[in-house]
Amino acid sequence: MCGIFAYLNYGVNRERGYILQVLFNGLRRLEYRGYDSAGISIDSVSDSSLCSSPLVFRQAGNIESLVKAVYQEVASTYINLEEAYSVHAGIAHTRWATHGEPAPRNSHPQSSGSGNDFLVVHNGVITNYEVLKQTLIRHGFNFESETDTEVIPKLAKFVFDQANEGDQTVTFSQVVLEVMRHLEGAYALIFKSRHYPNELIACKRGSPLLLGVKEYPGDGETPASFNDARFLSTNGDPKELYFSSDAHALVEHTKKVLVIEDGEVVHLKNGSVSILKFDDGKGTANGTNSRPAAVQRALSILQMEVEQINKGKYEHYMQKEIHEQPESLTTTMRGRLIHGGSSKAKTVLLGGLKDHLKTIRRSRRMVFIGCGTSYNAALAARPILEELSGIPVTLEIASDLLDRQGPIYREDTVAFVSQSGETADTLNALNYALENGALCVGITNTVGSAIARKTHCGVHINAGSEIGVASTKAYTSQIVAMTMLALAIGSDSISSEARRESIVDGLVDLPSKVREVLKLDNEMKDLAKLLIAEQSLLVFGRGYNYATALEGALKVKEVALMHSEGILAGEMKHGPLALVDENLPIFVIATHDSCFSKQQSVIQQLHARKGRLIVMCSKEDAASMMNVGKYVRVIKVPHVEDCLQPVINIVPLQLLAYHLTVLRGHNVDQPRNLAKSVTTE
Ligand code: F6R
Repeated sequence: MCGIFAYLNYGVNRERGYILQVLFNGLRRLEYRGYDSAGISIDSVSDSSLCSSPLVFRQAGNIESLVKAVYQEVASTYINLEEAYSVHAGIAHTRWATHGEPAPRNSHPQSSGSGNDFLVVHNGVITNYEVLKQTLIRHGFNFESETDTEVIPKLAKFVFDQANEGDQTVTFSQVVLEVMRHLEGAYALIFKSRHYPNELIACKRGSPLLLGVKEYPGDGETPASFNDARFLSTNGDPKELYFSSDAHALVEHTKKVLVIEDGEVVHLKNGSVSILKFDDGKGTANGTNSRPAAVQRALSILQMEVEQINKGKYEHYMQKEIHEQPESLTTTMRGRLIHGGSSKAKTVLLGGLKDHLKTIRRSRRMVFIGCGTSYNAALAARPILEELSGIPVTLEIASDLLDRQGPIYREDTVAFVSQSGETADTLNALNYALENGALCVGITNTVGSAIARKTHCGVHINAGSEIGVASTKAYTSQIVAMTMLALAIGSDSISSEARRESIVDGLVDLPSKVREVLKLDNEMKDLAKLLIAEQSLLVFGRGYNYATALEGALKVKEVALMHSEGILAGEMKHGPLALVDENLPIFVIATHDSCFSKQQSVIQQLHARKGRLIVMCSKEDAASMMNVGKYVRVIKVPHVEDCLQPVINIVPLQLLAYHLTVLRGHNVDQPRNLAKSVTTE
């Protein structure tokens, strides 16, 4: 949902060409957050005393369209790539449109008007922009875009002009603080201004934002140790500083980061970093008379390597992430499974939950909340959570819970499942559950994310960076993390000990079984060739694999742009059967578990209606399956513990979705109209 990025070099000489490259690369790393338009702003002259208007480039389309447009401009004008700056502040944006179509006028940076006195890049949504816009129009401002963002730079100019009319000199932070007081909604913002050359200000409420710091303490040539954590320096040593919506755009420059908190205003000026924070108890600015106070923050060290965010030998991120599931699952379980060794017990250890397990066991019910794939993962884990905990488990799609204002009680344990940890609907549901006094547990993939920070306790799924917009490895790691949660909650029950031990054994073997199922890659590519021209695909599942049906269908529709529907097989006779004919392909998940015989009868009934069936079954059942009738294909997968079977079964469907997309000529990593990390409601 939009990526914002900024780069400020102070006391480290950098040519304009280099600065452009840093900004473009930052955007490339953030492109998965939105890719329908992009823009940047850089300085027009290296002599800041001239206070000249910054240059702004905006373009509809992806980052490469922007890059091309900028270099065309460079080639045809006075812009000199070799011009060096000892200090320069540049800002950049990649957009997922919420207000206004993808077009240069709606792209960011949004401007205060001619002269670009104030420029802003924004991730989020300003909910009171209409009121602000009408007020600013009454004060003579003309609006050029349909965006909510445009009110922000215009409001900044209004505040600045008002102060100057009264002969007051205002600092950049005073302007931004005043602007923040009027904004409602969610935002991460970076401000650049002609009046404050060589300075940048960032602030946030709701949307994520990080500061990256690379210091040159001695000669101005040698950066300080890459990994060294320390308090934010307020001295004027040479530095390179970066703001970014997420860590992906920072890790190639520095591992020293500050996760900016809600209500904080971070000001970069003369090589120093200062932070002001609104302290109204909520860390927010709007609707309060609170005074911001200066705060000291320590930097943290990113646990991420550059290799993790490159495609390596793969053509697409989605492909890479599907194939790295044996490794991502291993990291999800690392250090958490007690298996073998001197202790005979086979169990799990979830450090982030150990102080809360008793409370969870006493809860009246557990509620799992998520959106999209994260919701599906909770659905896949529900049976084992219910079985091992003995506590009623309900599931909620975050937006639906909020629409209904459904009941959440103090006696509930509410788990928030989110890869990004930033999804606005899930975050709003978390705030709602906190207000209602429930124990809140985070199940996220992003350390330091809003959901990870706001929940009382949690489990990091440790799947590593997921960059493909379609979630794949996070899904399987989420299921495993929630299965471990079920094991931890049930670990005080003697009656379920044998069951728990065989699940732990199953977890230990799971990565190798996933490696085995990945060998179906070519077979799924062949199947994709057969299905390439189809309009629709139904996926039937039940029990543990109802979630697999929903998730498989979601993958196919979101990347291959083919209609696909996941259907609970038990519901087939209650409507969906009417769709069955000799043309519509139907994928039936019939791996061996307690629902197997029921699925066999579903297959018989579909056969009787001449359904075009693709059946996924356990290897051991393949022969008997073949006897039932003629299939388009039988997909044989390894048999594992029933609660872990969804981890195996989703892999062929992920591969099918991937190959269908490539064969149909669509962009796998940037599906139409989508973006990763949905930070707007
Ligand atoms: C689908 C997909 C989305 C996300 C959903 C929630 O492939 O990625 O459905 O699962 O937007 O995102 P997180 O898990 O980040 O909260």
